[in-house]
Amino acid sequence: MKFDTPATTNPIDQLRVIGQPVNRIDGPRKTTGTATYAYEWHDAAPNPAYGYIVGSAIAKGRINAIDLAAAKAAPGVLAIVTAENAGKLEKGSLNTAKLLGGPDIQHYHQAVAVVVAETFEQARAAAQLVRVDYASAQGAFDLAKLTDSAKPEKITGGPADTKVGDFAAAFAAAPVQLDATYTTPDEAHAMMEPHASMAAWDGDKLTLWTSNQMIAWNVADIAKTLAIPKEKVRLISPYIGGGFGGKLFPRADALLAALGARAAGRPVKVALQRPLMFNNTTHRPATIQRIRIGASKDGKITAIGHESWSGDLPGGQPDGAVSQTRLLYAGADRMTTTRLAVLDLPEANAMRAPGEATGMMALEIAIDEMAEKLGIDPVELRILNDTQVDPEKPERSFSQRRLIECLRTGAERFGWSKRSAAPGRVRDGRWLVGTGVAAAFRNNMLTKSAARVRLDSSGIVTVETDMTDIGTGSYTIIAQTAAEMMGVPIDKVVVRLGDSNFPVSAGSGGQWGGNNSTAGVYAACIKLREAVAQKLGFNSAEAAFADGQVKSGNRSVPLAEAAGDGELAAEDVIEYGDLAKKYQQSTFGAHFVEVGVDTATAEIRVRRMLAVCAAGRILNPKTARSQVIGAMTMGVGAALMEELVIDKRHGFFVNHDLAGYEVPVHADIPHQDVIFLDETDPMSSPMKAKGIAELGICGVAAAVANAIYNASGVRVRDYPITLDKLLDRLPEVG
Ligand code: MOS
Repeated sequence: MKFDTPATTNPIDQLRVIGQPVNRIDGPRKTTGTATYAYEWHDAAPNPAYGYIVGSAIAKGRINAIDLAAAKAAPGVLAIVTAENAGKLEKGSLNTAKLLGGPDIQHYHQAVAVVVAETFEQARAAAQLVRVDYASAQGAFDLAKLTDSAKPEKITGGPADTKVGDFAAAFAAAPVQLDATYTTPDEAHAMMEPHASMAAWDGDKLTLWTSNQMIAWNVADIAKTLAIPKEKVRLISPYIGGGFGGKLFPRADALLAALGARAAGRPVKVALQRPLMFNNTTHRPATIQRIRIGASKDGKITAIGHESWSGDLPGGQPDGAVSQTRLLYAGADRMTTTRLAVLDLPEANAMRAPGEATGMMALEIAIDEMAEKLGIDPVELRILNDTQVDPEKPERSFSQRRLIECLRTGAERFGWSKRSAAPGRVRDGRWLVGTGVAAAFRNNMLTKSAARVRLDSSGIVTVETDMTDIGTGSYTIIAQTAAEMMGVPIDKVVVRLGDSNFPVSAGSGGQWGGNNSTAGVYAACIKLREAVAQKLGFNSAEAAFADGQVKSGNRSVPLAEAAGDGELAAEDVIEYGDLAKKYQQSTFGAHFVEVGVDTATAEIRVRRMLAVCAAGRILNPKTARSQVIGAMTMGVGAALMEELVIDKRHGFFVNHDLAGYEVPVHADIPHQDVIFLDETDPMSSPMKAKGIAELGICGVAAAVANAIYNASGVRVRDYPITLDKLLDRLPEVG
């Protein structure tokens, strides 16, 4: 099905199942421990052995020699794979060949060997006996020293640099100016489930049970890396314990399980031990962001400029921190630039809302600072500078943009009018109390997605697609879509995901999964409805599907009859025309936060949080709310805690476990309110939905930072905002 004209009324609009707060259909399996995660496929392949990865002890240089003698002689050892004996590995879409390092080393904890043994304990013990002789070389680890770095080819969704009018002249002429630099640190996905895979070879065919967001991408990458045809690789990943972008691409567990299984002649399981997760896999790169804003005295932005620097390994990619600045606020003269330094740290890559999440951390403090300079309320300043068209390409309007309504609704609900604009004025016992606001913005991406739907003679509708559920609720919204389309209750729908034998879906990433994967199911269901109508002798344009029946006029036939004694199946793919080119598709929101800052210790506690989101149709308000409160929690982590601390001499992230890499726990997070504006976006798909999972994080950290400023009068521009950055600057209080 080609989606190239705005959606009109369709069966989804009935909202009998779609739009309802249906419980997760996979919930019982997850809460009873019977959902099979990657490391738990005990019986799927016979007699698996265990692999344990040895990570490089240097960040850059070479391996002179590896002595495997002692490890090979250790009890239970079946095989040891290193770059010397692995055979040639080809470059995948990213540098997947470098998932096994040596003799050249690109980063700390890059895998240099996998030891395969009968038991996990034997593999771990033998791994300690691998002796690696390194020649260490000097690497570059400090982004701040590399700001004269190069212009990358592009950022996600656009060119590296953009320019409209004459920013420099407009900024210089502006009566009110802000020129400030903000920094965000390297961050880890820190998902609960580590990267894990079990590999089994059957002749030249490889099966990988793994934990992965994008099945088809990974089939292609693994096949390419191993130089085998795609058809010979099967990926199975039905349950995923968190991804956040860290599981978009194959990682060492998958490749080394495959190589280990080939070498041992046995199925092999590999999970990354937690201390390897932080330096072996990918992370969100640190940024340095300079923002300049010029405005008239009445608060109209006349000039806006955003420059961002980040780093990655050679051939890597930049963080797209300037993305939202191209689209969020009006202003005639504008520029954005992105520069990319070469760093010898572990690979930088996508993490929840890559680009906007980091960019909004800076931009939305800058707007708060500007509001103060202008003496205008920060909610009003944002409203004053709203735009209904792409400010860089004014001929393009937004498909839907209700930022103003998000801000107004949130201000009303949060009690914003009671706020003291002057900082440091509100006390509650030992706490200085303040509130902050930020806009939320994240683009909506359209990408094709296929599904197969089968109807059997008992009236069960089974959906198959290689879509993944990384904790987001994909199973449930896909079941809701099929139930709505076929007119059956949700317990008559079976959803099977995460298998490369199924039609290729959009996968989970970039908050594109929900809208696109359900649109693919919609397309397949339209085909199945036509097949059913034909089979039962209905005119398909007139047939209504409801209550397990197909009806037209006064004739009503049970849906199941269409399957006869066997089944009726249909497969289709949703593909998109140029609606996304003609209209800018984005999601919007507003975050409101109240914090307390301890007058004596500068301890920061978040006291209240509210998000208002406008993201098209909300397919399931319960799973959507879970996405948003999870994202808000992650935003608090980014504001107050999360930072991969770099050892700048040796080039690694020091705090590489969940004791040292702090993320919020329950006690850190207050009650969270989420409001969804009631809207549909007819440009996004027949579902009229957009992404929500990443919108929820964008702006949160800045809202926290702005609340801290309002509470304490201390402006911190370097994340995370830890108490040491406030302590010496707190006002004297009686
Ligand atoms: Mo997302 S960071 O594209 O999983």
